[in-house]
Amino acid sequence: MESIGHLADVILASKRLVIFTGAGVSTESGIPDFRSPKGLWARYDPSDFSYQNFIASRDARMRYWQAGREIYATIRHAKPNAAHLAMAELERLGLLDAIITQNVDNLHQTAGVSPERVIELHGNATRVRCLSCGRPFSRDEIQARLEHGEAIPACALPCGGIIKPATILFGEAMPVRETMEAERRARGADTFIVVGSSLVVFPAAMMPLHAKEAGATLAIVNLEPTPYDDQADILIHGKAGEVMDWVLQMVKARIPHLAPSTSAGRQPTARA
Ligand code: APR
Repeated sequence: MESIGHLADVILASKRLVIFTGAGVSTESGIPDFRSPKGLWARYDPSDFSYQNFIASRDARMRYWQAGREIYATIRHAKPNAAHLAMAELERLGLLDAIITQNVDNLHQTAGVSPERVIELHGNATRVRCLSCGRPFSRDEIQARLEHGEAIPACALPCGGIIKPATILFGEAMPVRETMEAERRARGADTFIVVGSSLVVFPAAMMPLHAKEAGATLAIVNLEPTPYDDQADILIHGKAGEVMDWVLQMVKARIPHLAPSTSAGRQPTARA
């Protein structure tokens, strides 16, 4: 509990708070992560999610879309959990500079964080595009086609090109603008909080290091140890939803006009 109080104090004192999230922030919304024992890589072969295979092989695309149909079914019905909602509240309190996320589930935006404050390093699963003609599709539209038995959705004729969700596959070039902006925000942060990431995929996992190098206070909130735990100024091994909700309650308790009044009904005295 002491670390949570310390993190709340650090957040209140920060001028530029950046939160970095991974799949662990969405597991409490029902979306599996990747590297936990029951994670997606225990059920699917990551090589089917490589850009080269997706482009080169119809079989790999078929396996990708089979997996994608299941994964998107959980994403589509997922609701933001206490961790997403706490981060959105921190923005409403004027305490959040940006969220850098590896997630593609759009849950930070659904929770109410301003889209311009969400930097998506690995893209967004709700959009699909034809790699030949650029035609956009909604992921819901493609999901319906998959559920109606289409094994490898393609662009409409006469194009017929390969269509692909707007998510970054292994071996695919990172989005330049988002990656540069994420690094700029990480280097400009005075407080950098990692929530729910194993910190093993690069260049995303460089972001906490950029922040630390630039002098930020680094906090890590994760169920399992990460390779950067020894560099964290604050380390909390716990569930993202519980921890971030506790942190938010402690932040609000420290803001006089938000702190619950000491006796029922009496308005808290105005800040001196
Ligand atoms: N609360 C806190 N931490 C959690 C929770 C939870 N409820 N659930 C899981 N975790 C932790 C796990 O212990 C794990 O360390 O979140 C971490 C999730 O790690 P990964 O599954 O590796 O996910 P992530 O770090 O986001 O992966 C990065 O890898 O496969 C690629 O593109 C994919 O964006 C993804 C990237």
